[in-house]
Amino acid sequence: MWSGGDDLPEEVKESLLEYEKKSRYLIKRSEDQQVIEDVFDKATKMALYKLINKGALQTLIGVVKTGKESRVYWGKKADNTDVAVKIYLTVAADFRRRLPYIQGDPRFTNVGKGIRNIVEVWAKKEYRNLSEAYKAGVKVPQPFNLNKNILVMQFIGEEGKPAPTLKEVDKLTQKDYRNVIEQITLLYQKAELVHADLSEYNIFKWRDEVILFDFGSAVSREHPNADDFLQRDIENLNRFFSKKGVRTQQTQTLLKKVKGE
Ligand SMILES: Nc1ncnc2c1ncn2[C@@H]1O[C@H](COP(=O)(O)OP(=O)(O)OP(=O)(O)O)[C@@H](O)[C@H]1O
Ligand SMILES: [Mg+2]
Repeated sequence: MWSGGDDLPEEVKESLLEYEKKSRYLIKRSEDQQVIEDVFDKATKMALYKLINKGALQTLIGVVKTGKESRVYWGKKADNTDVAVKIYLTVAADFRRRLPYIQGDPRFTNVGKGIRNIVEVWAKKEYRNLSEAYKAGVKVPQPFNLNKNILVMQFIGEEGKPAPTLKEVDKLTQKDYRNVIEQITLLYQKAELVHADLSEYNIFKWRDEVILFDFGSAVSREHPNADDFLQRDIENLNRFFSKKGVRTQQTQTLLKKVKGE
């Protein structure tokens, strides 16, 4: 139940209470109620409230995935469009390990040190990365809105069930491999970004296309470690695809190709 918040204006408190009451009906599983009650801090509830107020979101229907540092929900906008709502948790977050992916990126200077601050920068970074990738025509979930530590984006999947990741797909082909390489090339050459956390867990296969996601780690190719991150991404892909029996290209050859050298 909503607690604290004595410093909030009366109408905001009322709306939050109203929202919480509503979520009890909308979010049916008891485990999820727990989430609404305990996991979200006041600022997160405020951010949710703002997104709802702005029309970016109408309801959260259920949890898609519960992680240690973020939770992804299936939600709907007022016009019934499905959205994925990724909420970065501000409790128990090991966000300091994320600093190397923030520091060194010229787009993000002056990052404060508090946990909430880093969490918000991380959410903003994922949102910006997705926006830049999307604009460049890379296949990624379309980003819709951001408020504080909450990111609202296109839902990839159906009826609240997310599309399978490459990890979950039985049969992968040469074409899937080529498609992934094509996407990271576009990401590098047109969006000028390196994903930096690319693996079979962060790529969907949906309607015969590959869709890259989980862009919090992605850095500008100006980042001093961008080349190392790109090499690691390619090695991860090669390791995974060759395990699946797909013929892969040499890392160095691919590195050059992706960079257009
Ligand atoms: N746009 C989306 N549409 C549908 N499902 C999604 C979407 N984004 C994420 N998911 C679901 O949530 C899961 C976790 O998402 P994601 O990889 O972005 O978070 P994470 O791994 O917890 O992030 P991080 O690596 O930053 O901790 C995905 O495997 C997928 O099942
Ligand atoms: Mg992930």
